Amino acid sequence: NIMILFGPPGAGKGTHGPKIEDLLGIPALSTGDMLRAAVSAGTEVGKQAKAVMNAGGLVSDEIVVGIIRDRIKESDCRFGFILDGFPRTLAQTQALDKMLAEEGACVTKVIELEVPDSVLEERITGRWIHKASGRSYHTKFAPPKSMKVGPDKKTPIADTMKDDKTGEPLMQRSDDTASALKKRLAGYHNETVPILKHYQPNGVVKAVNANQGMDGVWTQILSALERSA
Ligand code: AP5
Ligand code: ZN
Repeated sequence: NIMILFGPPGAGKGTHGPKIEDLLGIPALSTGDMLRAAVSAGTEVGKQAKAVMNAGGLVSDEIVVGIIRDRIKESDCRFGFILDGFPRTLAQTQALDKMLAEEGACVTKVIELEVPDSVLEERITGRWIHKASGRSYHTKFAPPKSMKVGPDKKTPIADTMKDDKTGEPLMQRSDDTASALKKRLAGYHNETVPILKHYQPNGVVKAVNANQGMDGVWTQILSALERSA
């Protein structure tokens, strides 16, 4: 079982990846989460990635392929894994094929989360994350239980934004601005969308309408996985 969760920034890859992880018992690997952890830890990779990520650009293929190559060698990946945010370029796609072919494996499913660009800014600018787990919340669509709003009845009070499970503070991503989003979307359309053509002939691409409530998206993902709720 080697799955790719495919879609633009804010499509719901990070929202649904952990749920598929629980369902299938294989790990969800987000290159964005791994890179953010490297930036926080101040590693060599983190130092190289930080400015590129903040500006909404793509980190080099060499770095990202290296991270994934090391990660999928770990024992929890032996029955398969879910890729969130990788591959994103043709070079990454070819590198993944090669890594998998060495193990006699191949990509078994690509879940394409389809959503128009116009709804993504609201999703991205309202997002708060729990950094340690990668869990994401949204001030309007998925508020944490602890959230309280200010006098305008809309703007959340930052101190009240806490992770439901751990009670730890939530934070906003430095690349979740309207201007960085524009760059991320341009990268998605120019570099990432073309790689779908690589998988389409294998019949593994399943499109899901991600422009609906999260529960509806999840139901469609389950049917793409040939599972019922
Ligand atoms: P990454 O972290 O992967 O960011 P991204 O691809 O831009 O995707 P997002 O995390 O923004 O979106 P998501 O689909 O996970 O959305 P989520 O579920 O959280 O990468 C960050 C950066 O790292 C890149 O820009 C790049 O610099 C670098 N990088 C990473 N991988 C790389 C690679 N392979 N090569 C090169 N560079 C790489 O949902 C978003 C919000 O919407 C949340 O608040 C959520 O609650 C809400 N929401 C979700 N679904 C719904 C719904 N159906 N209705 C309403 N709200 C919803
Ligand atoms: Zn994500």
